[in-house]
Amino acid sequence: MLAQKTVVLGITGGIAAYKAADIASKLTQAGAKVEVVMTESATKFIAPLTLRNITGRPVITDLFEPAAEHSLEHIALAEATDVVLIAPATANTIAKLAAGIADNMLTCLVLATKAPVIVAPAMNDNMFQNPATKDNLARLKARGFVIIEPGYGRLASGKIGWGRLAEIETIIGTVKQMLGRKGDLAGKRIVVTAGGTQEPIDPVRHIGNRSSGKMGYAVAEAARDRGAEVTLVTAPTSLAQPVGVEVVPVQTAGQMKEAVAKAVAKADALIMAAAVADYQPKSISPAKIKKEAPTLTLELVRTPDILTEVKGDFLKVGFAAESEDVIANAKEKLKKKGLDLIVANDITSAESGFGTDTNKVTIIDRNGKVESLPLLSKREVADKILDKVVELIS
Ligand code: PMT
Repeated sequence: MLAQKTVVLGITGGIAAYKAADIASKLTQAGAKVEVVMTESATKFIAPLTLRNITGRPVITDLFEPAAEHSLEHIALAEATDVVLIAPATANTIAKLAAGIADNMLTCLVLATKAPVIVAPAMNDNMFQNPATKDNLARLKARGFVIIEPGYGRLASGKIGWGRLAEIETIIGTVKQMLGRKGDLAGKRIVVTAGGTQEPIDPVRHIGNRSSGKMGYAVAEAARDRGAEVTLVTAPTSLAQPVGVEVVPVQTAGQMKEAVAKAVAKADALIMAAAVADYQPKSISPAKIKKEAPTLTLELVRTPDILTEVKGDFLKVGFAAESEDVIANAKEKLKKKGLDLIVANDITSAESGFGTDTNKVTIIDRNGKVESLPLLSKREVADKILDKVVELIS
């Protein structure tokens, strides 16, 4: 999604500057043209040559180059870039930006650009908590800068506190969100479900399934990257919360139904990638069931069918995880549940379905149009589904 996009990565002089190499690498791998601009002090923490090799682009610094060339270069870049990311941003650079001071290549570029500017601070905890820094960040926020709050943890001083550069995934996610804000789902609200629901048997056991949540999370992130406002209703997973998405954690099918019913009130589409349990124990034992009897019988009752029961004026997209008669079964579910679109998931292949990074699906729409896709990454599948959603919404 970052192909054809230019990202200016501004690096300022703090110990976290070494992490900028990882950021530059991830952005470059995602297809972005990464133009690195380093302050002089940043070059003391990490060599421009490292960034040059990672990005395959010349690195702009305040060192050794004639001023006239500088001014042309930063103005051209300020106009050409799609987004400016400053990571790490020191208290000093933040203060300069808040005061509108332009005394180096990076601060000049920020003053000259109309692109969104993302600032990821990293500094000593006392500097971060200082009212001057807080005020400066508040001023930047008020001016439309996007601030990625630093994290809590071990700092360069050895102390534990606030001031660590945010996680790289959070920073990359924010860049993607900003670049996608005018995408083909801008102004649309999409509700996505993910993961496998868990139906408790007693305080320590539950009935569950093997859904990892990867498919649903990929749909949520893809929708965010195309400009949608996304609510992700998720059963327990081990995945990191996607940035820029409202996450509603649930455990059971009943809780998922409640959360979905609330979230779809103003939604344009509901995409149910979750593997929802079809049955739940009729009653939950309040105490841990003892291993005494040689057999144990659980009485199960049906869970609510969320897709069927949640009503409203929004597009309904279901998944069908099938091991046989994939298309026929999916078509039947589309009809029975009153769906606009169903994604038939062939779970017989080791590369497709539960827990995998790839998926092989067939998309069937309410008009009977069938599109069989090759094996793709779950992110690619997510974008194919959203292409259909865009088509049907408009
Ligand atoms: O999470 P991953 O590891 O990435 O795996 C992805 C996946 C295989 C879980 C996913 O792609 C998938 O196929 N999800 C649907 C699995 C499923 O439970 O399908 P189903 O045929 O049982 O249900 C059909 C549809 O009805 C689904 O959209 C389901 O969310 C929905 N449903 C099911 C039961 C229920 N009580 N309420 C529902 O709304």
